[in-house]
Order: sequence, then C-alpha cells, then structure tokens
Amino acid sequence: MDKTILAGLLLLTGSAVANAATPATTVITVQADQPRQTISRHIYGHFAEHLGRCIYDGFWVDSNLNVEKDGRIRMDIVNALRNIDIPNLRWPGGCYADEYQWRDGIGDPATRPATVNSNWGGITEDNSFGTDEFMKLCDLLDCEPYISANMGTATSKDLRDWIEYLNYKGDSYLTGLRKENGHPEPYGVSFFGIGNESWGCGGHMTPEHYADEFRKYQGYARDYSGFKINKIACGPNATDYNWMEVCLKNIPHYMMWGISLHYYTIATGDWGKKGSSTQFGEDEYFGGIKNALFMETLLNNYSAIMDKYDPSRKIALVVDEWGIWTDVIPETNPGFLYQQNTMRDALIAASTLNIFNNYSFRVRMANLAQAINVLQSLVLTDKERMLLTPTYHIFKMYKVHHDASLLQSTVSTNDYKLGNESVPEVNVSASKDSNGKMHVSIVNVNPHKSIDTEVILNGLAAIGDISGEIVTSAAYTDYNSFDDTGKITITEFNDFKKKGNNTVSLNLPPLSVVTLEIQ
Ligand code: AHR
Repeated sequence: MDKTILAGLLLLTGSAVANAATPATTVITVQADQPRQTISRHIYGHFAEHLGRCIYDGFWVDSNLNVEKDGRIRMDIVNALRNIDIPNLRWPGGCYADEYQWRDGIGDPATRPATVNSNWGGITEDNSFGTDEFMKLCDLLDCEPYISANMGTATSKDLRDWIEYLNYKGDSYLTGLRKENGHPEPYGVSFFGIGNESWGCGGHMTPEHYADEFRKYQGYARDYSGFKINKIACGPNATDYNWMEVCLKNIPHYMMWGISLHYYTIATGDWGKKGSSTQFGEDEYFGGIKNALFMETLLNNYSAIMDKYDPSRKIALVVDEWGIWTDVIPETNPGFLYQQNTMRDALIAASTLNIFNNYSFRVRMANLAQAINVLQSLVLTDKERMLLTPTYHIFKMYKVHHDASLLQSTVSTNDYKLGNESVPEVNVSASKDSNGKMHVSIVNVNPHKSIDTEVILNGLAAIGDISGEIVTSAAYTDYNSFDDTGKITITEFNDFKKKGNNTVSLNLPPLSVVTLEIQ
C-alpha cells in the first residue's frame, strides 16, 4: 500500500498513545528529510456561481454602492482574496452552468437578454456579469479562471465557440467580437469542466451516457493558439464509486486532465433538515466534524479505483465542490443558500485541507463552495459592510502549503467521542517550502480539552527558529458578525518549546488550528 495512503488511514484510525518516554497524549511524526510530491496550489481554489448573492450583490455590485469598485467589481472583496493568494476561481456554476448560454453575457450590457436563473430562486438576471467581466475579475484577483461548460442545454458547437472566443489569437468572427468587447489578446484559459453534476441537475445521465457525451464534447474543446485546455470530466457525487469506474473505463485517459468529485458535509446527515449554521448543539458539531472527515475515506477509496485504471497517476482528482451546507439563515431566500460561518467551519476547512494535502498525489485541484455569501463562504457582505469568515482565516494560514512539497506525517492520538461514535481528536499535514521552511498544520477538534502534543521531525539534525499561528475560539458556534468582525482571526501562537534536537512540544487549545513554522 502506498505510504501516503497509510498516513491517511492512520489519521482516521489514530488511537491512544502508550509511550512511557513521551507523556504527551498526541504524537505527530513528520518525515522531515523526505519531501514528496508538490501540493498543488490549485487545491486551494474557490467557486463563484450565479447563485444568491455570490455574483450579483457579491463580486458584482450596483454602481451606486458606496464601496471601492473597478467598474462594478467590488474591490474590498478582491483585495481580501488576493491576500490569500486565491489560485483559481470556478464559474459560472454549479447547476447554473448547465443552463448558461455564454453568448447572453457578452457585448453591450444594455442589449444583453434578461434570463431566468431557474436553479436558484427563479430570479431574473440581466447578464451584466458575463465572460469578459469574469475574466476581468480573475485578472484583478491574479488567479486562473476555471470555466464550467454547459453540457446540459448547450451543444458541442457552443463549447467550441466559447473557447475560440476566449483563446484564439487569429482573426475570426468570434475573436472580432472579443476585440470589440475590449480584449484584443486571447485570454488563454486552461481549465475547462465539461458538464456539472451530469448525474443530477446537469442532465440526470447514466455514467455510460455521460462518458459517451464527454468523448464527443471534449473533442471540440480545442487547443487554440497553443493554449492547452485541461479538460475536467464530471465525476461522481459522494460515494457513487460506480460512476468513477464507468468513466475511467469508458473514456480514453488522454481525453481528460482530471475528473471531479463533489462532496458536501451535512452535519445532521439529513439533506431535508441540515441544521442551523450558528445554533447547534454538540451532536451537530460532532456530526459536522465526523462527516467532513469522511472526505478521507472517499479519497482513499477513489484513489484506489483511480490507481487501478491509471496507475501512473496522470489523471487529477478535482474536488471542485466541497464544504459544509446548512439550512439558510431564517428569513433569507431559501434559493439563495445564505449561511453563516462558525468556528466549526474553520475546523472543517482545516481538517479537509489537511486531507487534501495528504492526498495531493491524486488531488490536484479543489474548490470550496462558495466564495461569497453562499454556503461555506470566505467573505460575507451586507450592503457596504463586509466580513471575513473563520474559514477565510484558515485559507490565509494555509497559504504556506501552496506548491510546497508534502512531508509525510502520521499522528497517534486519542479519540473525541460522542455517544457511540468517535473521531480522532487531532489531524495534521506538513510541507516544506522552496526556502526550506517546514510548516506543520495541526487541528484539535475536541471542544472539551487542550491536548499536549509532540511533533517529532524525523531526519532533522537540529531544529532552528520556530514560530506559530493559531485560529481558535471558546465555542464552536462562535462566528464573525457584521458588528464584531474580528472575533475569530489569526493570532500568534507561542505555547511551544523545543525538546531535544528534533522535537517540538506544544499545547493545543480546544477547538484550535495551529500552524508551526520550523526552520
Ligand atoms: O454549490 C451549490 C450547488 O451544489 C451547485 O450548484 C451544484 O453543483 C451542487 O449541487
């Protein structure tokens, strides 16, 4: 079995330590001298769907709104996302993508047709935010666009034309339109998803039918003017292992750069009653953590399936929708999926990113759902006001792992138990950056106790300088509100000391995420 998978399994099944030499309750061992594969920065990607107040009244605001803007793009949001080095942004959906006709969103905004967003609230959109506005947003964010193309209600010609409009350098009717619309140079988009949730809102297809359709559509996703399209096939929902098997069997592998996976955390386990985003007891706290950690089981199982068909691991697993999904905030539009974001969400984000880092031999891209004002957001807005969520601060803290080399880590820890169920109370990932600095990110999900922990850096002759950062709060229901935007944020962490040549001992507060930087 691959050692990285073994590390992952240990994380899930970690058990109590009985080590006389080390009184710590938790021992983390990092193979400090054996850097492995690169953790792609694209694992830290985000998602902006035409859903609720993500695009309209999120990124794209009314000209009269009294905030700094570039055109109608809201710059306080852009600056916040630039501060976390957002690597890519997926757009325009989600379910919306399979009803989106890209031609409705180009040219003079005054002549763009009004269309109905049938998936999300049945509202009318004026299409003032379209392809060129999205590309401008990505330019301001300094991130790569990841376009999710319509397979449900558009033709393969629509896909080919869209890519010609975006990427072709020479003269054509479509590139003439792009020039008229203010962009003479090709955009050079590389990430293209073909179909979204084709097993559900994207066409209710069987995997066999989808695989055939993908084979056809992808052939028209051409590499114009030297810009290579990284084609991403629609993969399974949660545990639909058969979908993955059929796609990998029926689609020639050279046709796809990656295949997606969607998995949402539902704290109650009940899609009909997902629970409040801020008012919940320990059962729903525990359920949220346990169901988020299930991502590791999924990645373990999908890695095994993918290894069977693609042993040299060329195909990327792209987890392009993940995060906690709760009931909407009362009295908000149920079709807008607006939820708050608590300390529980921060722990879910950090634990999931630890899992992605540890599975970066296969997971090369991921997108949290969704960036602004929808589901597990980074940023929430209320007219001119804006706040950064606890999840945002985790993405900020974890920037150090972007494009760093994974250091294999194992954790031996106690369980956090509720009733008959349990999860490991600590999880971890570690990496080494291009300057030789190591970063170890450690999560304590136990709300009841601080945990003495030792981090052993195997293969390191002597530890140099150490510094630390922490995100924590007294209660898992704590959150940043518009009246108290700084309740949960990153602060300095000093509760550690060197022990011998290669060990750091520290005390992890309850409900905390700590990143140590070790030279
Ligand atoms: O993120 C919200 C929705 O969840 C997306 O539109 C869809 O792809 C998924 O079901």
